[in-house]
Amino acid sequence: MLIQEIIRKKRDNQTLTREEIQFYSQGVTDGSISEGQIAAMCMAIYFNKLNLDERTELTLAMRDSGDNLNWDKYHLNAPILDKHSTGGVGDVVSLMLAPMLATCGGFVPMIAGRGLGHTGGTLDKLESIKGFDIFPSPQKMQELVKQIGCVIVGQTGNLAPADRKIYATRDVTATVESIDLITASILSKKLAEGLTSLVMDVKVGSGAFMPTYELSKQLAQSIAAVATHAGCQTTALLTDMNEVLASSAGNAVEVREAVRYLRNEGTRNPRLHEITLALGAEALVNGKLAATREEARQNLQNVLDNGKAYEIFEKMVIAQGGHTQFDQLPTAAVIKPVFAQSEGYIQAMNTRDIGIAVINLGGGRRIASDEIDHSVGFDEILPIGSKVHPDTPLAMIHAKNEDAWQAAAQAYRAALTIGETQPENRPIVYETLTA
Ligand code: URA
Repeated sequence: MLIQEIIRKKRDNQTLTREEIQFYSQGVTDGSISEGQIAAMCMAIYFNKLNLDERTELTLAMRDSGDNLNWDKYHLNAPILDKHSTGGVGDVVSLMLAPMLATCGGFVPMIAGRGLGHTGGTLDKLESIKGFDIFPSPQKMQELVKQIGCVIVGQTGNLAPADRKIYATRDVTATVESIDLITASILSKKLAEGLTSLVMDVKVGSGAFMPTYELSKQLAQSIAAVATHAGCQTTALLTDMNEVLASSAGNAVEVREAVRYLRNEGTRNPRLHEITLALGAEALVNGKLAATREEARQNLQNVLDNGKAYEIFEKMVIAQGGHTQFDQLPTAAVIKPVFAQSEGYIQAMNTRDIGIAVINLGGGRRIASDEIDHSVGFDEILPIGSKVHPDTPLAMIHAKNEDAWQAAAQAYRAALTIGETQPENRPIVYETLTA
């Protein structure tokens, strides 16, 4: 086979065969296909799209470009579950949901990512915890899953290597925003975990990766269809990202919120709690660990209330080398509130801009080699709909110095719309989609 003939076929909007797709993925992995050819193929797919069979074949070929976790020798006798999000701001759900699902009887080998664009990354958040190792060997990772019930780790060297190469090329050739390529990219990694079922959190709104509701929905449908077609029962929830999901956005600030949530300290952010329960309920029902969503939600609530989910979280942190003195997480030099300056209701939040403000504070990367300052970010964030006066704190800003604080305060105020009328409540979960 000649790769240029396969690219030509997709360029001319024809359907590729399984063999052609496998040839492409294999060539990407072994380096016999050049970066230019990867770029040309991605652009051809961007414009001419893949049908469900082609998308599934590409996902499976990319999954099989590296190791697939095999769980047979671990005799788990329970479903292997995971949830994945398309990325948001203040989306700390994974830190709570992994131990909650494990406590409810599932096994969760969660492979998470770093911050991408304006969105935060679960791995970056976990690295606020001193000593936390996000790259245990695949064997150790599997042993920990068996022993504790869950781990949260990064993509190891040989997991879906074709995705790593294709993603790097997409990133610099304006081909990231393709539903076909995003589907294959996310699912090649998730399916390599050897999952029984997956729940996808596809974000919609001002802080979402996809620019419109319709495109988010198409992505959700695509992921549910391809994953289920590939034998992993998957539900995709379309959830609201028109405001910061948690009451905090950053790294250590979000870990603190997750710890308080799991320890039942203070009031849980109701939107964060609702999304966590909704995603968790789908995972438990898909994994046949609960007969109905109501039963699943009750089980999840119980493991929070009786402290068992927190115990598993603590065990996971210790097993991955982390310190559990969470009162010693990194703290910023300047921590003080930003005030509203006007009166009215918070009507809207440009969540993407708040994500960018976290990066500008030093809590994310501008280029891949940037070091993250885990201490900075926002917390005590007032939600949309709050009534404010000029002296109402909108959020606390954690900054490394006064100049950074001032810039963040300006950006934060600019990201909010404050007006006279109280906005209507928005749904938190818009739709639940299955294949
Ligand atoms: N996350 C991924 O892993 N891949 C994409 O293409 C987009 C988001």
